[in-house]
Amino acid sequence: MLRLNNIEVIYSKVILVLRGVSLEVPDGQIVSILGANGAGKTTTLKAISGLLRREEGEVTRGSIEFDGQRIDRLPPEDIVQMGIVQVMEGRRLFQHLTVEENLLVGGLARRENGSQVSQDLEQVYHYFPRLKALRKRTSGYLSGGEQQMLVMGRALMAHPKLMLLDEPSLGLAPLLVEEIFNIIRKINAEEKMSILLVEQNARIALEVASHAYVMETGRVVLDGLAEQLQQNEDVKEFYLGLTQLGERKSYRDVKHYKRRKRWLG
Ligand SMILES: Nc1ncnc2c1ncn2[C@@H]1O[C@H](COP(=O)(O)OP(=O)(O)O)[C@@H](O)[C@H]1O
Ligand SMILES: [Mg+2]
Repeated sequence: MLRLNNIEVIYSKVILVLRGVSLEVPDGQIVSILGANGAGKTTTLKAISGLLRREEGEVTRGSIEFDGQRIDRLPPEDIVQMGIVQVMEGRRLFQHLTVEENLLVGGLARRENGSQVSQDLEQVYHYFPRLKALRKRTSGYLSGGEQQMLVMGRALMAHPKLMLLDEPSLGLAPLLVEEIFNIIRKINAEEKMSILLVEQNARIALEVASHAYVMETGRVVLDGLAEQLQQNEDVKEFYLGLTQLGERKSYRDVKHYKRRKRWLG
């Protein structure tokens, strides 16, 4: 449903950032982009949503197709109307507005009547019950995890077919990361919504995604089924922080040490 064909992106006419990136998001699937800081993950999402042009960026080669239509020349408003919503990294909210007011902003593009809007709100609260409890709270006072829920809820208000999610786990405690990814899974399953997920947390990204791409310095260097990448030695070493030998060895060392201590004690 989404296809990037060999795209090149240049900022400010001279800074070449993406060099021939190709990727695909099939209907209803979660696809992940992994890679270190500066690899070009966010730029890839902005190329899709059209937000690139707000930063003097441009797709200078290749093409982007969504539902069979070419979108790389369209303004961001048209791309949103076609059903692609980007959730930016850094959780940008209207800090002084309440939770519910922020959600209503997310629905504005759809120009719906009152009863449809309240139905949309209930749908968001179904996935994010915490937001319902916080609906009158000023957004600036929310925790990082709650703000992440709010930016995702706001994106849901636009009823996207494809959600572009940029580093939802960034800076959150492990339990909250689990909670947020369970919700991502649930939205994907119940709404049949496709999700393109950018993550530095490769472990959790490979757990939820069906397919993943690894980016380095503006290129895709590896891609495959998530289960295959989980077993890939390079991915294990560089992105999952474990090598098979090293991990087993240290685990065994710990056990030996404990056993020896017991004998000695
Ligand atoms: N607006 C911009 N103008 C010029 N260079 C940029 C701009 N945005 C990002 N870059 C550069 O593009 C590269 C990729 O950035 P980015 O896509 O944000 O990577 P990632 O999201 O993987 O960390 C970096 O070297 C970054 O400095
Ligand atoms: Mg980024």
